[in-house]
Amino acid sequence: MARNIWVDAPSWAGRWWLPWLRTLLLAPLLTYVSFPFLIRLFPSLLNKFVYLNFLSFPLFVDFRRPELLVNNTINLYLTTEPGVTVGIWHTVPSSRGAEAQGKDQRWYEEALADAHPVIIYLHGNGGTRAARHRVQFLKAMGAADFHILALDYRGYADSTGYPSENGFNTDVLALYDWVKARSGNSSILFWGHSLGTGIATNAARKLQEERGVQIGAVVLESPYTNIRDAAANIPITKIFRQFPGFGYLILDSMARAGMFFPSDENVKTLSCPLLILHADDDGVVPPKLGHQLYETALQAYRDKSKVKLITFPQKLGLGHDYISFHPELPALVKDFLNMK
Ligand SMILES: *[C@@H]1O[C@H](CO)[C@@H](O)[C@H](O)[C@H]1NC(C)=O
Ligand SMILES: *[C@@H]1O[C@H](CO)[C@@H](O)[C@H](O)[C@H]1NC(C)=O
Repeated sequence: MARNIWVDAPSWAGRWWLPWLRTLLLAPLLTYVSFPFLIRLFPSLLNKFVYLNFLSFPLFVDFRRPELLVNNTINLYLTTEPGVTVGIWHTVPSSRGAEAQGKDQRWYEEALADAHPVIIYLHGNGGTRAARHRVQFLKAMGAADFHILALDYRGYADSTGYPSENGFNTDVLALYDWVKARSGNSSILFWGHSLGTGIATNAARKLQEERGVQIGAVVLESPYTNIRDAAANIPITKIFRQFPGFGYLILDSMARAGMFFPSDENVKTLSCPLLILHADDDGVVPPKLGHQLYETALQAYRDKSKVKLITFPQKLGLGHDYISFHPELPALVKDFLNMK
C-alpha cells in the first residue's frame, strides 16, 4: 500500500508559513547583498548615509531662540550663495555676557571686533547646532572668551539647500568672509569635529590656495585622514568589509558621489598652527586615523612646532563626541595658541 504522506508528515507541516519564512530570511539577505551594488549604481545614495542631515536631533528646537540652551548667543541667517541660506548661532565671550543681555544682531556683529579670537565651528554629521555636545562646545569656549560661530551647513536644521562637499566649502568660506569683514584684526580659527574636520581643512586650504589668506589656526577634533579611509574604518561598514568588492562597490563610490574630504592632502598645503584632538576610546573614527593625519602633517610642515596632537586617555570616557566636556580643553587650546 502506498504511503500516505499526509499521515507521515509531522503535524506542524501545514507549511502555509513557509513562503513567509523564506521571505523573512531572504529579505535581509537580499538587502545585504544588493546594497553594495545599489551604491555602485547610484553613488548619490551615499549622501544620505554620510551626511545624515535628515536626522534632525534634538527635536522641537526653536533655532531662533538659542538662549533657551546657551547664554550670550544670538541666531542669524547668512545667504552663502543665491538660493542657499544657512542658520548660525553666534556666542560672544562670556566676559561680555552682562552687556550682551537683550542686545540685537547689530550689537553682536560689532562685538566681533573686540579682539577676542573667533572660532568658526564646523560640526559633524547628523543632528543640528543644538545637539548637546555642540551646545557644550559653545558654553565651554564662550566661557574661555572666544567668539564662536556655529553654522548648520546647507541641508541641515533650518538651513536651506542640499548637502554636498563643494556646497559646504561655499557655506564655510562665505561665513569666513562675513566674519572677516567684522572682526578687525582678531584671529579666526576653523574648528572641525568629525565629518567637519574635512570641511575645516578644505576651507583652510581653499583660503590659502585661492586667496593667499592663511587662517589663524585649525583645530581638528576626532578627525579622519579622508572620507574613504573613514568609511573603511567606521564600525557601521564592518558588516560589508568582508564583502567581495567592498572597495570597488562602496569605497570607490564615495569619490563617484563627489565625496573626498581629503584632510591628509589638505594638511600638506597648510602652514598655520594645527591642533589635532583624539580620544583613545573613540568608537566611531578610530584614533589611528587621527594619529596618521598628525604624522602626515608633521612630515609636511616646515615648522614642526606648529603641529600638535593631544590624545585623551580611555578612562576619561570622552569617546567620539565628548571632548568638549573635558574641563581642561579650553586651557589646552589656549596653551597651544599661546594665549594667556
Ligand atoms: C544663563 O546664565 C544664568 C546665570 O548665570 C544661568 O542661571 C542660566 O542657567 C544660564 N542659561 C543657560 C541656558 O545656560
Ligand atoms: C590691524 O592691524 C593693522 C596692521 O598691524 C593696523 O594698522 C590696524 O590699526 C589694526 N586695526 C585694528 C582695528 O586694530
